Order: sequence, then structure tokens, then C-alpha cells
Amino acid sequence: MNIKDLYIEFFKSKGHTQIPSAPVVPENDPSVLFNTAGMQPLIPYLMGQPHPLGTRLCDYQKCIRTNDLDEIGDTFHHTFFEMLGNWSLGDYFKKEAITWSFEFLTDVLKIPVNKLAVTVFKGNDIIPRDTEAIDLWKSLGISEEHIALTEDDNFWIAGEVGPCGSDTEMFYWRSEEDVPNVFDPSDERWVEIWNDVFMMYEKHSDGTVSELPKKNVDTGMGVERVTAVLEGVLDNYQTSIWKDVIEKIEELSHKTYNGNEKSMRIIADHIRTSIFIAADSSGIKPSNTDQGYILRRLIRRAIRHASMLGIDINSDWERKLALIIISKYQKYYKELIDNKDVVLDVLTLEKVKFNRTLSKGLKEFEKVAHKDIDDKTAFKLYDTYGFPIELTVELANERNINVDIEGFYRCFKEHQEKSRAGSNQKFKGGLAGNSEIETKYHTATHLLNAALKVVVGPDVHQKGSNINTDRMRFDFSCDHKLTDEEKDRVETLVNDWIKQGLEVTKETMPKSDAIKSGAECMFIEKYPDIVTVYSIGDVSKELCGGPHVKNTNVLGKFKIKKEEASSAGVRRIKAILTD
Ligand code: ALA
Repeated sequence: MNIKDLYIEFFKSKGHTQIPSAPVVPENDPSVLFNTAGMQPLIPYLMGQPHPLGTRLCDYQKCIRTNDLDEIGDTFHHTFFEMLGNWSLGDYFKKEAITWSFEFLTDVLKIPVNKLAVTVFKGNDIIPRDTEAIDLWKSLGISEEHIALTEDDNFWIAGEVGPCGSDTEMFYWRSEEDVPNVFDPSDERWVEIWNDVFMMYEKHSDGTVSELPKKNVDTGMGVERVTAVLEGVLDNYQTSIWKDVIEKIEELSHKTYNGNEKSMRIIADHIRTSIFIAADSSGIKPSNTDQGYILRRLIRRAIRHASMLGIDINSDWERKLALIIISKYQKYYKELIDNKDVVLDVLTLEKVKFNRTLSKGLKEFEKVAHKDIDDKTAFKLYDTYGFPIELTVELANERNINVDIEGFYRCFKEHQEKSRAGSNQKFKGGLAGNSEIETKYHTATHLLNAALKVVVGPDVHQKGSNINTDRMRFDFSCDHKLTDEEKDRVETLVNDWIKQGLEVTKETMPKSDAIKSGAECMFIEKYPDIVTVYSIGDVSKELCGGPHVKNTNVLGKFKIKKEEASSAGVRRIKAILTD
């Protein structure tokens, strides 16, 4: 039986309800790109909100950690992994959590007790030593010498703030050699397989810690590690999870795993992660920002390693690998069935796109790789040949040469600014003028847009705009002719804001963040991935290329000269600024 089924069955027998795996892209947490732990989708419930399915939950959760792609290629790192977890939301606590962990490991998985060891929280000035956990482990049969006390390693939090607590970690002796009498957690032959966190605190952004309303348990066990342990192999990529994928790569490349481990592991890992990102309900596609950029990098890096192995990268190798992976996981993740075609197309389209430039890009790299890669070359590799900067760095590392990464980002930013100015020019019509008076009109346009939303309603949106040195013209969605009263109120509001001397500030951010922050924008799809957002005090926030005045107090007096129909459902205001 699969470890996931064994786990769920066991915890169901202990009164837990199985909850489905949440999407890999968090639904309500813009602070992280991907779920990195099983507890992440449960944060609101760990903080005290009642969960609709009760106080004892269990699941297997898709997780993605991509902070260090360079680590992939060794025996045990993965960008995607599944985490088994069981939770108590203010229900049971240490005694049951530890007892059931022990029972699952020794009774269900049949791991001999002497091959297990644990770490327990040592205690510090704020939180005392976890003597209860020590006593519980001893009572279950873990010898004192196999219990190590650590401080930092036994306090768990996802990120910087949020629910947290001391934990106890379980280790397995993964070696042919005799089990040492004394457990040393720094000896890498001991591999961590499970973590029970006793989540009873919340850490705040000022560094202080307060108690949560309830004492919770959060546990996490990595499927690939525990599978390797159970199958008695030292390399995760030699387990049943990967065996047929690696065999397929061997067949496609006419090379053996032995001697080509790194590239084969990278291909297998990156294709699997790409599948789960592309199949996610969030609909991520390869792009140059956020999750889309991770997806792009994973696919392109897999292609490059496939090419290094001599796989014909123009063949349908990526589909062959994807089909093996999908068939392996589809029983557990229905989205792989529902979105199979989407996933295959994402992989193939990105492959076709990158293949067009890969070999030329590699030739270009060869030409310049006799010395460090300067800013312009790194940018050219990105802009002309589609090499993510990380790929250029990887190639450079293989040659022991450096890349001017900072310089690359400088070029990148300059380029973004240029193309932004270009695209603003295109669709902002007369707005691109930047004489002093036009700049003032530009800021007044934002104020007018904000005032109309207040007076007429939040459904008012900008439909067009035109500025010259004599007046501003503003088109907006609205189903009726403005009444005199509405016009007066709009005028008064804009003039009040002008008098208040509101500061105009500018920020640069990824487009997706701008949208999340609620910034107003006319044609979202026409903006580049990195955008400028202008805020006026707290009355207006818009994606915009500028230019703008620094403070509204220089605008003078705002006066509506005309309000008329522009087209069906669109009204037009002409207005002026006077001294
Ligand atoms: N949340 C804990 C971890 O990820 C269980 O290790």
C-alpha cells in the first residue's frame, strides 16, 4: 500500500478527517508564491478560526520550495514534495501526537525502535525545556541516548510571523553501519523524517510572542524521504517514486543514470514540479514574474539538462516523461486528469519557444565565456536568447567565471522603463506630454477618476483620456448624464484634495502585486510585468507611467467645463485648472 494511503487510514482510525490537498499556489496568502508546508493552508484555523471539518484533520499536501534551485541534483532535494500531516486544532496535544507518531512509525511502517532518534526543545529564557516530550519518548521506548536537546532547530515557524511553537523531530538511521549508541543530529546518516510541532504561540512582526487561543498540533512528514527509508535506498531518486521516470530518461538519452545523476535528477524533479504548477487551479503559465517565472525557469533548466544528456530536445521527450508522472499521481490529484492537456501544452509550448533560441544562445555563451560575463552580455542572453539570469549563472559556474548579476538587473530595469514609456505612449494618447501644465492635468485626471468613484459609484472606470496644455478630457463608464449636484460634488471633492496638499508617491512593483494592492488601471494586459503605481495620499492609487506633480497643492483650482455623452455607456468630462 502507498505510504499516503497508510497514513490517512491510520489517522482516520484516530478520529481524524481527511482534508483535500490545497492548490500549490496559496489561495488567500499573497506573501508566499507557493505552499511550502502542509500547515500553510491551515493558518487561519491554527490561529483560532473553527474548521468546518472539525478539530482533528489529516492530509497529504502538495508543497513547493524553490528558494534554492541549485541544491537540486543531489540525492534528497526536490522542488516539489508531498507532506503528510495530522493536526489537532485545540483538541489533543503532546501525549497523543507523540504516541501516534511512534505507533505509526513502529507498528504501521515497522521501523525498528533502535533505528529511531528524536530531538526535543532544549528551552530558553522564554519557553521552558520540553520535559513532557522527553518523558513521553522515554515511556515509549526511545533510549535517553537517542534523545538530543536543541534550541533553534526545535522551534518551528513558517517564515517570520504567525503560528509557531517548539517541536520534536524524528530521525531514522539510514546507513548500513551499526546504529550508534548516542544520537548526534549533525551526523547526516540520521535523516529527519517527521516533525511534530506544538503550536501554541503566535510570533508578531515586532518579534514578540503571544499565546494562541488554543494549543494545536501540526505535523509534517516528507513522502519522498520516508519512501526512501522504507525502501532502504540512500538516493531518493532510486525509489519507486522515480524509478520509471529515471529509466525513461536513460532510454531517451541512451545514457545510464550512473555517471549522469545530476542532470537526470534535475530533469525528473523539474518536470514533476512544472506539472504540478501547470495543473494548479490558479492557471499559472510560464512568464517573467512570480510563479510563472519559476515555472519558466524549471522548464528551461530541464530542457538545458536534457540537451546536455544528448536527448533530442525537439522530440516529444517532455510529454513522455510528463505522462509517466501524471499517471503515477493522478489517483491522488484529480487536477492532473482534468488539466492533463493544459499541462502537456504548457510544457511543449515553452519547449518550442526555448528551443528556437537555446542552441544559438549557447553558442553566444561559448563565444563570450573566456572571461567574466558582463551586464550587457547577461542581458543579451536573457533578452535575445531567453536565458533566465539563473541559467546564465549556472553556465558560468560550470566554467568558474562570474556574472555581473547586479549589472544585469540594472539593464533589465532600464529596458523595462523604456518599454513602459513606449507602451504608455501607445495607449495613453495625449497623456504622455510632460510640460508643467500637462503634468498637473495628469495628476488632476487621477483625482477626477477617484472623485467620480466616490460620487457616482465604484463602478466608474476610466475609458480614455486626453490632455493638452489648455484642458483635460476624461472618458468614463457611467450609465447616466451627471446631475448638476453630482458635478458640483465632484468638483468640490477634487478641490478639497488639492487644498489638502496630498503627496504624490511612486512605487515600482510586479504587475500582479499592483493588482492585488487594488490599484486602478485601464488596460491591465497592456502593461509590462513590472509597473509603476502612483498614489495620491490615500485617495487614489493607479498604474501609470507618469509624469505627476509631487504634491496636489500646486494644481490651482479645478473646474468642470462640460459633461457630455461620448459613446454608449461612456460619458466625457472636459475640465480645466486655473490659478
Ligand atoms: N510544519 C512543520 C514542518 O513543516 C510540521 O516541518
